[in-house]
Amino acid sequence: MATGIKINSIECCYGEREPIYKNLSLEIVPGQTVALMGESGVGKTSLLKAIAGFIPLRSGNISFFSSRVNEHFQDSEYIKKEKIGFVFQDYYLIDHLTGCQNVMLPGLMGIDAGLREVEERAKELMAALNVSHLQDRYPDTLSGGEKQRICIARAFFKSPEIVLADEPTGSLDEKNSEIVIRVLINAAKKDGTTLVLATHSKNVASRMEREIVLNSCGIQE
Ligand SMILES: Nc1ncnc2c1ncn2[C@@H]1O[C@H](COP(=O)(O)OP(=O)(O)OP(=O)(O)O)[C@@H](O)[C@H]1O
Ligand SMILES: [Mg+2]
Repeated sequence: MATGIKINSIECCYGEREPIYKNLSLEIVPGQTVALMGESGVGKTSLLKAIAGFIPLRSGNISFFSSRVNEHFQDSEYIKKEKIGFVFQDYYLIDHLTGCQNVMLPGLMGIDAGLREVEERAKELMAALNVSHLQDRYPDTLSGGEKQRICIARAFFKSPEIVLADEPTGSLDEKNSEIVIRVLINAAKKDGTTLVLATHSKNVASRMEREIVLNSCGIQE
C-alpha cells in the first residue's frame, strides 16, 4: 500500500537551541518521488529524521495516510517502526558485522522469516546495488560509496512504503549514482514506494517528480 506524509505546522529543534523551522507544512502524496534541496545546514536531514520520528517535534504533527481521496489515516507509530526505510547520510553501519549481516539486520529483529530467507533477501538486495562482492567485508574496510549502497540495501530490506534517503548518492561516482537512482525510482514505480530524497545534486533532483527547496523562510517549490 502506498503511504503519503502530511506535515502540519511543525517546529523542530535540538534541545534548547533555536528552532530550525517554525510552522513548516508539507504534504507528500502516496507514491510520489520528491527531491529535498537547500543549503547545507538548512535542515534537510533534520526534516527526514523528524518524519521518521528520530527527533521530537516541539509543536505541530506529522501523520501518514494511504489515499489522497479518502485520506485514510494510518497508525503513525506503526508506520515509523515498520514501514519506513532510512538511508542515513552517515551510514550508521555496525562495525563488527559484515556487509551482508548489516543488510540482514532489519530481517532479524521481527523474527518473521528463517535465517536462510533473511540471508537470501539480503543477497538479492546487494546484487541489485552492485555490492554482492562486499558481503563478507567489514564496514571499516569499505569506501564511502560502498558503505552507502549497503545502507540503501538495508533500508529496502522490509520493502518499506516510505523511503527517506539522505544524500544517497553523495559519495558515489556517476555509474553507481545511476544504479542507486534507478533502484530508488524502480521501487517507487513498481511498489508505489513514496520517496523523499535529500540531495545537493540538481541532476539527481531532476529525476524526481517534485522538487522542494528548504530555506530559512520554509519551503519553496
Ligand atoms: N544533533 C544535533 N544537535 C544540535 N544541532 C544539530 C544536530 N544535528 C544538526 N544540528 C543543527 O541543525 C541544523 C540543521 O542541520 P541538518 O543536518 O538538518 O542540515 P542539512 O540541511 O541536512 O545540511 P547538509 O546539507 O550539510 O547535510 C544545523 O544548524 C545543524 O548544525
Ligand atoms: Mg544533511
